[in-house]
Amino acid sequence: MQTISIIGYGKMAKAIACGLNGKFALEIIGRDKEKIQNFIQENNLLNTTSLHTEKIIDIKDKILILAIKPYALEYFKYENQSIAVFNIMAGISISKLQSILDSKSYCRVMPNVASLIGSGLSVLYSDDIKIKKLASDIFDTLGSSIFVDKEEQIDSAGAISGCGPAYLGLVAEALIDAGIKEGLNLDISTKLVNGLFDGFSKLLQVKSPNSIRLDTTSPGGTTIDGIVELENSATRAAFINAVHAAHKKAKTLS
Ligand SMILES: NC(=O)c1ccc[n+]([C@@H]2O[C@H](COP(=O)([O-])OP(=O)(O)OC[C@H]3O[C@@H](n4cnc5c(N)ncnc54)[C@H](OP(=O)(O)O)[C@@H]3O)[C@@H](O)[C@H]2O)c1
Repeated sequence: MQTISIIGYGKMAKAIACGLNGKFALEIIGRDKEKIQNFIQENNLLNTTSLHTEKIIDIKDKILILAIKPYALEYFKYENQSIAVFNIMAGISISKLQSILDSKSYCRVMPNVASLIGSGLSVLYSDDIKIKKLASDIFDTLGSSIFVDKEEQIDSAGAISGCGPAYLGLVAEALIDAGIKEGLNLDISTKLVNGLFDGFSKLLQVKSPNSIRLDTTSPGGTTIDGIVELENSATRAAFINAVHAAHKKAKTLS
């Protein structure tokens, strides 16, 4: 079984490790021995070893996933050459990575938290054709993956699919609150919103957003009054601006 070494044990490392659990052997690397042990136990990771290090990581012949914060990258010193590096850190370019650690291949990846339940979407970029098969083998295990043609598209895509769960979380919370305001209890309102997202995501696979909207908006009906309120609140512009702000921030991290 191939071993994947994950540096980090935070939220994204958890989503990735849980998705890969049982399909690959895992190695969890980081600076806090206790956190690594808890991470392995709490997530019931099978076939997993730990590598605790204060500073220096020997990456010789490893397949690495970098799942630490961008500012933490240079906290560690990397010795020798790895086989492949998959970098999920927002804003860290391949050229920046090449200046910090040596690898036969480099790949940038923007995953999302749905990897935790095998429904993640990972956006990938590499200029090395040889890494593509390995990349798909790993990241398709977490859901699905899409390769983009240009490295800068990773940050654009990440601002949608990487940050998107937070934006949709905000929408879900707002709709649950709206149900409560209209007199539903929390349980019913939450169930309605869960069902709404579930059905909507399936519908979106077969219909365009515009046709779903039109199908739901009958002339002089109730939905159009709600749409007018959303347009008055510049909802589209708010989402476009949010994605733009996240993209701009990602660019400042490199
Ligand atoms: N969360 C998402 O939805 C998402 C989506 C796409 C990409 N990402 C990317 O995933 C990466 C990890 O994000 P996350 O949400 O998993 O963060 P997180 O839960 O806060 O975990 C951060 C990880 O970085 C390590 N770390 C932080 N500061 C460090 C330092 N100074 N030196 C060494 N290690 C340090 C932490 O270890 P310690 O506990 O020892 O500090 C921990 O393992 C980020 O680069 C982010 O851009 C996240």
